[in-house]
Amino acid sequence: MTAVELIEKKRDGGTLSDEEIRWLIRAYTADEVADYQMAAMLMAIFHHGLSVEELAVWAEAMLHSGDTLDFSDITAPKVDKHSTGGVGDKVSIALAPMVAACGVAVPMMSGRGLGHTGGTLDKLEAIPGFRTQVDPSEFHHLLKTIGMVMGGQTETLVPADRRLYALRDVTGTVPSIPLISSSIMSKKLAEDIDALVLDVKVGRGAFMKQEDQARILAETMVGIGSHHDTEVVALLTAMDEPLGTAVGNANETAECIELLKGDAPPDITEITFRLAEEMLVLGGVADSLEDARMQLEATITDGTALEKLEQVIVAQDGDPAVLEDYSLLPQPPQFVELEAPREGWVTMCDARRIGVAGVQLGGGRLRKEDEVDPAVGIWVFAKEGEQVEQGEPLARVGWRHGDRLGAAMEILEDAWAIGDEAPEPKPLIMGKVR
Ligand code: URA
Repeated sequence: MTAVELIEKKRDGGTLSDEEIRWLIRAYTADEVADYQMAAMLMAIFHHGLSVEELAVWAEAMLHSGDTLDFSDITAPKVDKHSTGGVGDKVSIALAPMVAACGVAVPMMSGRGLGHTGGTLDKLEAIPGFRTQVDPSEFHHLLKTIGMVMGGQTETLVPADRRLYALRDVTGTVPSIPLISSSIMSKKLAEDIDALVLDVKVGRGAFMKQEDQARILAETMVGIGSHHDTEVVALLTAMDEPLGTAVGNANETAECIELLKGDAPPDITEITFRLAEEMLVLGGVADSLEDARMQLEATITDGTALEKLEQVIVAQDGDPAVLEDYSLLPQPPQFVELEAPREGWVTMCDARRIGVAGVQLGGGRLRKEDEVDPAVGIWVFAKEGEQVEQGEPLARVGWRHGDRLGAAMEILEDAWAIGDEAPEPKPLIMGKVR
């Protein structure tokens, strides 16, 4: 078998056999297939898709490309959450401690920023000292003792996804239903979880722009889960505009800490609670979503969720003083404001453009090997449906390099539209698939 033959087959719309898919994933993981060949294959899949049968084998081959975890000695229910990726989507960092404080173990294996969307690992690494590399035995130990852990994939866990994810990020092959669903589900199934909650983003700033596409993605992942006896619930949630105020790394981490103190903007708070409620019900520690909401609210008012985050930060070598003093997080050296060109109602606050501008500032990667700058970021002040005066700040931009700022500001100038009438309010949660 050669990579070229398989690329040509998929390029021409053919169907790969089980054996061919297993060979390709194994050979790529073993460095026998080059990145440029896999990039060509990913583009062919982007255009032609994978059949249901091909996808099942593709996801399975990724899942078994390395080790899988075994948490069978941990008696607490194990439930994780994963998002298909958004802008300002900092949900995980607040949600995991809230859910863990209610008695559900959360083995959160997160990713880095992908395309214009942010990644939990990049945000966590804004905390001075915080170590996201956690080897399997430590991962196990933290999950057992603290009830949660937030780390990246290790070298040996789903190595195929680690490499494919980075390659897709820089080859324009992210927004593909088979590639997203196999990437997410292979990682999550390797975590030995009892159940999974998915946040499938829909809209301008999501990889899935249309609700029908997002629904197919959700159904595809629920299907892969049920094939592996793992219950999966997916919420379809709005991603036309960024979630919350902060877009970046350090600023998003600060906003999560605010959420755990009950002080975050309503949209990010509501989504975090809704996803966490589903986790508590799936984990069997709440009888209903209402019961779950009460338990979760208690973790904010009695401070147990914030304490849980503190325990994790300490265990993973971060500085817990950031919980009280956000100035210990990396700060941008300079700021500039983007002003409203006219008065009126904000009719568009484009998550995609704001995400791309954040990457331009240095908060995300333009090339696979780029380092992210945790300090830079955007604070979004005017969201859709809000009324603004001419000259009022729509956003504050924290920047480091002038050439990068120029490119980011050009994009940001087109990110807002202001009209004469208030737009129709849009729902935050658009549906549920299970
Ligand atoms: N999140 C993932 O883990 N993988 C994707 O492909 C997209 C979002």
